[in-house]
Amino acid sequence: MILFEISETFHLARGKVYLYHLLHGTVSKTYNMKKKAMKNDIHIRGFQERFSVIEPQLRGYYTSLYGETGYEELLSTVKTMYSGRSDQMLHLDEQRLAYPTWYQDPTMVGMMMYVNNFSETFASMPSRIEYLKSLGVTYLHLMPVFDMPEFANDGGYAVSNFTKIDSRLGTDEEFNVFAEACHRNGISICIDFVLNHTSDEHEWAVRAKEGDVEAQSKYFIFKDRTMPDAYEKYVNEVFPVLAPGNFTYNAALSAWVLTTFNHYQWDLNYANPEVLREMVAAMLQMCNRGVDIFRFDAIPYIWKEWGTDSRNRPQVHTLVRIFRLILEIAAPATIIKGEVVMAPHLVAPYFGTEQEPECHLLYNVTMMVELWNSLATRDTRMLTDLIESIPEEVPDSACWVNYVRCHDDIGWGFNEQSARRQGYDPFFHKRFLISFYLGSYPGSFSRGELYESDPKTLDARNCGTTASLCGLEKAIHERDEYQGELAIKRIILLQVFAFVANGIPVLYSGDEIGQLNDYSYIQDPHKGRDSRFLHRGPFDWGVAHAIGDLTRYPSQVYYRLNRYINAAKGHVMMGNNNVLRSILTSDRSVICMLVIPRHPAYEHQMMVVLANFSEHQKQVRLLEHDYSAIRTQLWTELLQGKQVRLNDEVITGPYEILLLTPR
Ligand code: GLC
Repeated sequence: MILFEISETFHLARGKVYLYHLLHGTVSKTYNMKKKAMKNDIHIRGFQERFSVIEPQLRGYYTSLYGETGYEELLSTVKTMYSGRSDQMLHLDEQRLAYPTWYQDPTMVGMMMYVNNFSETFASMPSRIEYLKSLGVTYLHLMPVFDMPEFANDGGYAVSNFTKIDSRLGTDEEFNVFAEACHRNGISICIDFVLNHTSDEHEWAVRAKEGDVEAQSKYFIFKDRTMPDAYEKYVNEVFPVLAPGNFTYNAALSAWVLTTFNHYQWDLNYANPEVLREMVAAMLQMCNRGVDIFRFDAIPYIWKEWGTDSRNRPQVHTLVRIFRLILEIAAPATIIKGEVVMAPHLVAPYFGTEQEPECHLLYNVTMMVELWNSLATRDTRMLTDLIESIPEEVPDSACWVNYVRCHDDIGWGFNEQSARRQGYDPFFHKRFLISFYLGSYPGSFSRGELYESDPKTLDARNCGTTASLCGLEKAIHERDEYQGELAIKRIILLQVFAFVANGIPVLYSGDEIGQLNDYSYIQDPHKGRDSRFLHRGPFDWGVAHAIGDLTRYPSQVYYRLNRYINAAKGHVMMGNNNVLRSILTSDRSVICMLVIPRHPAYEHQMMVVLANFSEHQKQVRLLEHDYSAIRTQLWTELLQGKQVRLNDEVITGPYEILLLTPR
């Protein structure tokens, strides 16, 4: 009763107070139950039902890692955070529980961006929503937005506070206002949740440096090199050139700290249940503030086990399960996207199974690599191989995220067996791709830079914007309009392919106006060594405002892309529960991809994608296949309306992509 009185003094909404006490078992019988809102009753019952079904599983996973230690505290955190959920978010929970695969809707179009590059601060973001809507965006991934060190911040991936917006981007309130505005406009918000590490300016790291033992137990800190040396024997370096080694000596501590990424990113120790509890609290707080999708950053790295490579450990999967179950209980409107940049066979396991699902969304990173590979080689056989090898035994909740470029480098993680099958030596093939996208390979149309170029292993990755890597920068520089036209065709080919390849398509902000590389980063002493800033330039609003002038390249990119988005968005085949298949064609530059609805009732709606990855016109035939309907059917190209029969030879223009639908 006292608790109620205190709360009432603080003018907490009566329904919320009731919710809090009910969840914590401290509800007073004398409380006037009639006064509580009916709405809250429904939500509480929903919560309790979910809790009673899900909690036993949660307990099972939790105790397998930690025993009973800290479990009651974790549950208490979950309940407390749920009691802070706003009416709007409770309403969203309801809507999404009724349509749990909302993110697989055919209308989903994503964009990812840095707030400061797009609009400087959150205060002005709401006024940019109209622009996003003009592109059909329904999913917005905001790159790291939380408090971070002024300079040593890895583009925001060194987080100093997991719930406070970085003051250079605005205030917490401005973020909340923007999230609400997005929801009103049918746009869901995705933010990065950097689980693996904190910045060395995070309160825990600061306290650890001051000698606080409890804070130190949240990290991996060693007084001598015994444990670090034992670890280094089994574990690769993520940044072998920019940040070699996995440990950093800290003078304040006179000790070695595990720093898998940069020296200022301290790895969190998830073997300590308090780390998990605090991260859950931060995650749920952000759910309550309107986050629809969390991008779990660098997820394979979060569990360390000496004597192993400390990647993709079974405990990582258990932790993802724990996070997901907690969301299902306390924030069912919110889902998880995993960042798993690993060899192809290691990615899909992060979807989990039908009985034990993990991430809802995963980046189709190999698809991205194979698209760039096909463009450089004019050979689509590895892309075809990939399409045939995408695992189909994934839970119904699983959905891929397809993309052409993002804020990171392109690492050449193709399937080496597939490369060998097509006659490519993986090592030399990688060398070819590296020099092709650097622009140094003879005849290359590309302009890019190297990233993490290691002279010892000759390994490297590439950076650059889609437009520059596709040849637009070179064409403009050489005043070559013919090459400019080809570059635009390449951009559209890659983007449209990613758009129709079963998953949520996500554009990297600026790509829709063909933004070129931004070389100014080199002058900035805090960025100069990190060539990823080459493709992290400010969005060019001057260009975006002149988009009506179709004589300009950016307008042409925008116009053509938008035309595809308008035609394809919402089309039944853009739903994300399809299967991809391929048919061999008579020319390796031309791929034939089938997008087939998983549900047999919709089979007749299949889409055939014919895409020519070369600058030459190609006349192709489909080779052997089992799809008799494909031969007999008359197909209509979605944009142009032209009709095509696939038992005849088909002409595809340079870099043309045809989206053929039955009609
Ligand atoms: C992820 C981010 C990358 C960052 C790294 C370390 O891979 O995409 O930008 O450097 O995590 O947090």
